[in-house]
Amino acid sequence: MKNIVLIGFMGTGKSAVGRRLSKEVSFRFVDTDRLVEEKAGKKISDIFAEEGETQFRKLESEAVLKVMREEQLVVSTGGGAVLNKDSLDLLCQGGIVVWLTARPEVILRRTQRRFGSRPLLKEKNPLLKIEHLMREREPYYKRAAFSVDTSDISIEGVVSRIKGNIFGVGDR
Ligand code: S3P
Repeated sequence: MKNIVLIGFMGTGKSAVGRRLSKEVSFRFVDTDRLVEEKAGKKISDIFAEEGETQFRKLESEAVLKVMREEQLVVSTGGGAVLNKDSLDLLCQGGIVVWLTARPEVILRRTQRRFGSRPLLKEKNPLLKIEHLMREREPYYKRAAFSVDTSDISIEGVVSRIKGNIFGVGDR
């Protein structure tokens, strides 16, 4: 079977949901942010600070290319991975793409704990930035097969909905 790919904004639960989903469907879990950090040998915030966003995006698209050569993975992508057209095409061709969403206020609350790996949100008004980026990225996220709003449901609940949509079991 193809990969199951999670796309969506920061703080929508891609990594937590992906890890859990991978166990339930017995697929290996891969997080493109972690692949980028391994390749660069440094944290995302340091890549942004020392080499810039363009270099980060280059490493990110290489990570997508690498994982999408494989099968039977649950892939969690960075929130901006969909901005690269080739990456988005690859994700859609080699995977069932699931868009995780959440309300901007929920995203703010969740990401405030880990601003370190989210340099794009180091802003005076992070809520405005979240709303702006979400609007800008929506057309790309919409290429997913289906979406799940994670604002008010547990990780297990999200996993159950994803399984329901893909395999016809669990909640839809
Ligand atoms: C980014 C999202 C982050 C990380 C980087 C850029 C973005 O990943 O890739 O900070 O552009 O939305 P998460 O979505 O896993 O937080």
